[in-house]
Amino acid sequence: MILTERAYAKINLFLDVTGRREDGYHEIVTLMHSVSLCDRIRINASFSDKRSIVIRSNNKSLKNDESNLIYKSALKYMLKFDINAKIKIDLRKIIPIGAGLGGGSSDAAAMLRAMNRIFKRADEGQLLSIAAEIGSDVPFCLVGGCALCSGRGEKIEPARINISPYLVIAIGESRVSTPEAYAMLDEKYQDFKKYNEEKGFYASADAPLYYNIFQSVINNKEIEAIKAIMHQGGAENTLMSGSGPSVVGVFSSPRRASLVKRALKRKGFLAFRCILK
Ligand code: C5P
Repeated sequence: MILTERAYAKINLFLDVTGRREDGYHEIVTLMHSVSLCDRIRINASFSDKRSIVIRSNNKSLKNDESNLIYKSALKYMLKFDINAKIKIDLRKIIPIGAGLGGGSSDAAAMLRAMNRIFKRADEGQLLSIAAEIGSDVPFCLVGGCALCSGRGEKIEPARINISPYLVIAIGESRVSTPEAYAMLDEKYQDFKKYNEEKGFYASADAPLYYNIFQSVINNKEIEAIKAIMHQGGAENTLMSGSGPSVVGVFSSPRRASLVKRALKRKGFLAFRCILK
């Protein structure tokens, strides 16, 4: 059986940390939204005596072994439901890697959706729990749309927001890994309870949009330059997504968004125009 799935990127329109957990993760509250920027995976699956997973991708910097989140998703699904199958995956990678856009998480979620379309063994709760084992953002990516997420990020409550859907997402060269970004927060805030009491609002469904705690530790000239170009081009708002470094600009029209995307590209930034999904 051959099928394809799209893996949509996510952006965070609000992201705050409320504490450190015993398991080393952080308690977060975040408003996530899917966007139309997406990867595509094509899966060819057939039953077989031996389990095998082969991944090919257009992005040579991505490992195609057991460390790949797509591989992990396919394997976890087969192990959980005792399935032996030969799975071949073609990944067309468009979402920049390690940019705070949930590309890897979304590929994993798309793989889980594909496995379940093929083998039909998991109910929604089971699929969400496999997703949470793979990564904190994978459950959201499985469901998509707009949601207020808490816990490690894996507890999802559907939400609604009313903002313009026209976006530009731009990225510079610098990269800080997610664990490193969290370590920078730990160093800066030490006590998240105190920080939360002092800042004047609490992470909740009523919290203001366009706040990202990571902006206070991940900031550099490229991010500033991207935001400045977006504001010059009429952005209604700009915000770093996830632990960065991608920056999202919200525009009142597709035309403005197009002009800003072009301006960013002229300055050498990777830039995409997309819409809320
Ligand atoms: O869950 P995921 O694999 O995406 O997380 C990557 C890393 O980010 C974790 O190993 C952890 O260091 C950090 N993290 C965290 N708190 C979260 C989510 C991620 O500390 N809520």
